[in-house]
Amino acid sequence: MDKTIPWDMLAKEARAAAKHAYVPYSRFAVGAAILTAEGKIVRGCNVENASYGLTNCAERTAIFTAKADGMQEVVAVCIYTPTAVPTPPCGACRQVLNEFGPTMQVRAICDGDGSIDTTLDQLLPGAFGPKNLD
Ligand code: THU
Repeated sequence: MDKTIPWDMLAKEARAAAKHAYVPYSRFAVGAAILTAEGKIVRGCNVENASYGLTNCAERTAIFTAKADGMQEVVAVCIYTPTAVPTPPCGACRQVLNEFGPTMQVRAICDGDGSIDTTLDQLLPGAFGPKNLD
């Protein structure tokens, strides 16, 4: 795991973001914090909808928010779930994260002591991405 990544700060931001989650249906409040190549930390939370399928996960909220602020590349993401064991990002979020950081570092944290440390290319091997359209 890359020691230059401010994991403690990312964890704090991810936990704080979860407090803003809009989760009237699942009651499962997720927070994410991404570190951009420019050095910014951007938060996201899950935002559910009465039309359940329109729910946006915390990771995608963070990516879209960062993109709107000029992000070009993501180097790391920390995801907090309110669980006893850490939870990896869903498949849809893996694909969206891949677009802006196919080798980004990924850490999943939770209410317990455990964490998952991995990389996006380990979570989404053989990904379809922008290069496939060249
Ligand atoms: N969720 C996320 O925010 N991120 C994930 O990677 C997995 C799932 C959200 C979606 C939904 O609001 C709730 O968690 C339960 O699935």
